[in-house]
Amino acid sequence: MSPPTSDPRQTRTTAKQRRNILQFLMGVSLAGVWMSLVYPLVRYLIPPAEANVATNEALAGAVGELKPNSAKTFRFGSHPALLVRLPNGEYQSMSAVCTHLGCTVQYQPDTQQIWCPCHNGRYDLNGRNIQGPPPRPLVTFDVKLRGEEIHVSRRQDA
Ligand code: FES
Repeated sequence: MSPPTSDPRQTRTTAKQRRNILQFLMGVSLAGVWMSLVYPLVRYLIPPAEANVATNEALAGAVGELKPNSAKTFRFGSHPALLVRLPNGEYQSMSAVCTHLGCTVQYQPDTQQIWCPCHNGRYDLNGRNIQGPPPRPLVTFDVKLRGEEIHVSRRQDA
């Protein structure tokens, strides 16, 4: 520890060094605040590119995973899709993206229909729009069993 000094030049130099350090720390803090405000705004304005939008096939699940009259949601490329096991044990699959405004639809076992919770739109089990504002049917997929796996694929005529 150095003894206290009364040299005015050394006192000025020490004060200037402290001022420089404080200015540096203030600059770093302001840069951090600025980045925390600007980064979310930039991420909002420039959304990430959708990955793998041209998927033609996806693994939907495993045989025995679904009980009759139930369904699950899975990813078909970058979008949600539905795999429905009908009461008779067969499978149906369709896009889970509502054709009205894009909400995710879900299977309702009690009515055996596909229901959109956003505006109460309804589709039958073939994906046809039967009630509410959806303007078009859901995109439906072919279902194939390969061993214990359930695969769905885009219809060739679609
Ligand atoms: S978004 Fe599905 S009914 Fe409106």
